[in-house]
Amino acid sequence: MFDKFYQLNYWRFGFQSKLYDLLTPEAYWESARRCVQSVPVKKGQVLLDVGCGSGVLIDCMEDQLAFGLKYLGTDIQLSGLVRAQKKAEKHRDWGTALFQADFTHPLSVKKGSVDIITAHFSLYTIADRESRKKILSGLVETLKPRGLMVIVNPSREYSAIKIIGESVQWARERNGILSAWARALVLYPFTYLLGLRFIEKQLKADHWHAFGFAEMCEEMEEAGLSVVHSESVYAGCAHLVTGRKA
Ligand SMILES: C[S@@+](CC[C@H](N)C(=O)[O-])C[C@H]1O[C@@H](n2cnc3c(N)ncnc32)[C@H](O)[C@@H]1O
Repeated sequence: MFDKFYQLNYWRFGFQSKLYDLLTPEAYWESARRCVQSVPVKKGQVLLDVGCGSGVLIDCMEDQLAFGLKYLGTDIQLSGLVRAQKKAEKHRDWGTALFQADFTHPLSVKKGSVDIITAHFSLYTIADRESRKKILSGLVETLKPRGLMVIVNPSREYSAIKIIGESVQWARERNGILSAWARALVLYPFTYLLGLRFIEKQLKADHWHAFGFAEMCEEMEEAGLSVVHSESVYAGCAHLVTGRKA
């Protein structure tokens, strides 16, 4: 009941109103950058972004797209895809494509055709382990041999306050003290109230899933991936794990 309602409405409202991008905290952008940077890209490779939302990763991969990476984004929410499409249009010549799909069903992507899969804060919306197992195995089938999958999921240490604190620090480092204050006083209270605090509550109630590090690695290994890299991101509130198919 919960899943269905929020899958349909929470993200849809954020994407349609543009609040999702506007209120995204700096620590989240940093996590997206780490996700993109953690995969070495070769010209002509295909990257499948599962649960791409409004295309936050597209914003972080200008260099990779210019270098010849082919981006394929998919999400259940048309409203997110519309936003992502606008970002992707800037890179049309470099080969970007988006399609609507529910990842709880097999995707219409040819088996063994994808070099890299990214799932940045999308798979955690599936609370049930068995369902995630099925989804992951299906995604791994679309990877080429030796293909890479980078997954970022919230950790059990998820804390809205910590994320805001680190975001203010990042804003200060990147844009100076005035920008950091503006975010801290004007923008981030809304980020906290409308976004992070809500997500924290859903994680605590296990409507969405907060992962232990070992658990996340185990699920990836069960799906046929060998863990080749891991790091803590998002103020320690998320795990980034990269796995390679045999
Ligand atoms: C937190 S957002 C992350 C979006 C994007 N990856 C980012 O980092 O900004 C979660 C995304 O997962 C998508 N999603 C959730 N369940 C899905 C499903 N069953 N099939 C496809 N996408 C789904 C949502 O629509 C939403 O866009």
